[in-house]
Amino acid sequence: MISWRCCWLFSLVLTLPSSSSSSPSSSFSTAPQPNIVIIFADDLGFGDLGCYGHPTSATPNLDKLATKGLRFTDFYAASPLCSPSRAGLLTGRHGVRSGIYPGVLYPGSKGGLPLNETTIAEILKPRGYATAMVGKWHLGLGAIGTYLPIHQGFDSFLGVPYSHDQVQQHPTKR
Ligand SMILES: *[C@@H]1O[C@H](CO)[C@@H](O)[C@H](O)[C@H]1NC(C)=O
Repeated sequence: MISWRCCWLFSLVLTLPSSSSSSPSSSFSTAPQPNIVIIFADDLGFGDLGCYGHPTSATPNLDKLATKGLRFTDFYAASPLCSPSRAGLLTGRHGVRSGIYPGVLYPGSKGGLPLNETTIAEILKPRGYATAMVGKWHLGLGAIGTYLPIHQGFDSFLGVPYSHDQVQQHPTKR
């Protein structure tokens, strides 16, 4: 049984080009669009960061981000497991709808987050955002990288397709 525990951070980095002053899609609000960085960490409790009141955890850099950005105090993960929770975060749809449910994907898994699902990256890209995915993806690899982030609206991907503690099992060894 492969452990679900893993410490890879899953970060989406969604930034506006510095020269951009407006969105190509003018039907949207003219309010300035913020840069968005989502850090999605496995096994991080709501009270584990200094900015959420932990008495001894020293998390000064994250605390600094919290003081300069929005600090939410209510959050529900779509699932307690990596793949379905990531599918939910990216699409806003429960994993049971996208097929990323109930468990996680493995190195030998054939599928991935279906390419017809609309991700947050695909929503933001036409609004002028540059998009990057860094860290653990865990939403499918596919035979030729079919399900990797660059096919789900991300301009770039630097990371691993599944958990660092999941290893490809050689067929002759089992
Ligand atoms: C994607 O395609 C599958 C298979 O045709 C379908 O079941 C699913 O509803 C589609 N998803 C979306 C978001 O359209």
